[in-house]
Amino acid sequence: MATKITKAVIPAAGLGTRFLPATKAMPKEMLPVVDKPAIQYVVEEAVNAGLTDVLMITGRNKNALENHFDRMTELEATLEQKGDTDRLHKVEYSNDLADMHYVRQGDPRGLGHAVLRAKMHVGQEPFAVLLGDDLIDERDVLLSRMLEEQISRNATVIALMEVDPAQSHMYGIATVEATDDDDVVRITGLVEKPAQGTAPSNLAIIGRYVLRPEIFEILERTDPGKGGEIQLTDALLEMAESDIAGGVYGVVFRGRRYDTGDRLDYIKAIVQLAVERDDLGPELRPWLQQFSATLD
Ligand code: UTP
Repeated sequence: MATKITKAVIPAAGLGTRFLPATKAMPKEMLPVVDKPAIQYVVEEAVNAGLTDVLMITGRNKNALENHFDRMTELEATLEQKGDTDRLHKVEYSNDLADMHYVRQGDPRGLGHAVLRAKMHVGQEPFAVLLGDDLIDERDVLLSRMLEEQISRNATVIALMEVDPAQSHMYGIATVEATDDDDVVRITGLVEKPAQGTAPSNLAIIGRYVLRPEIFEILERTDPGKGGEIQLTDALLEMAESDIAGGVYGVVFRGRRYDTGDRLDYIKAIVQLAVERDDLGPELRPWLQQFSATLD
C-alpha cells in the first residue's frame, strides 16, 4: 500500500558561484525575491502541499538559513513595543511554518550527494525533494499533482517542463513515452546537461522530485558524473532503465516557474512577482512602462 508522504528535503548546500560575490558569506537560497528569501517560498510550497517535516541540507553558511526559520526574540520584542503588528506577523510567520531539521553536506559533491545526506532522516518512506533556488508560482499546481501520481503509481515522479532547445544544455533532459494521462509521461532515458544540439527532447527536469527510498541505495553506488559531481539524474536514469521500484514518471508542468539561481532569471522573477503585488504593482507598473520606453 502506498504511504502518505510527509517529508520534504530541500538541498541548499550548493556554492552558488553564479551569484558571487553576493553568495560569498550567504547561501543563494537566502537571496530576497521581492521581500522574502527564495527558500521561504519553497518551504511554503511544501507546507501547502501537506508536507510538514522539512529537512534542509545545508553547507558552510547555514546560520542564515537556520536563523530565518527560528525565533528572533529581540526583533520581535522591538516590533511589539512599537506596535508594528504587520511586520511582527511577517517575522513570526516563518518561525512555525514546518517542523524544520538540518543536516550538513560537508563538501558540496553534487545534488545526488546532497540528497543522500537525507537517508537517515527519511528512512523507508517516499519523500519530496524541492530545490531551494527553483520557485513555482503558488497559483499553479505542481507538487500536489506529483504527490497524487506517486501514490497512484507507487513509483518515483519528477517534474518536467518544455524548454527552448537553445537552453537544453543547461538542464537534465528526458526521453519519454506517453501514458493515458495528458500531463504524465514515462521516463525511458535521462541525460544531464547534453552538449548543444544533442538533447533527446525539449523536456527538462525542473527542481521538484517525489522519490522512492530505493534511490538511496542507487545513490550510494553512483559515481561522480558531469562536472565531477554525484548527479541525481544519473541515479534516476538507473531507476528508469532498470525499472527499479516502479520506474520513473514525469509530470509535465505548464505553469510559471522562476529560476532564482540564475542572475537574469532572478531579476525577471522579482519584476514579475512585484508587478502583481497589490502593495507594489500599482506604482511599479507605470514606472516600468515609462522606463521601457527609454530603452531602444
Ligand atoms: P545548482 O547547481 O543550481 O547550485 O544546484 P550551485 O552549484 O550552488 O550553483 P552555481 O552553479 O555554483 O551557481 C541545484 C540545487 O542543489 C543544491 C543547490 O544548493 C541548489 O539548491 N546543491 C547542489 C547542494 O545542496 N549540494 C551540492 O553539492 C550541489
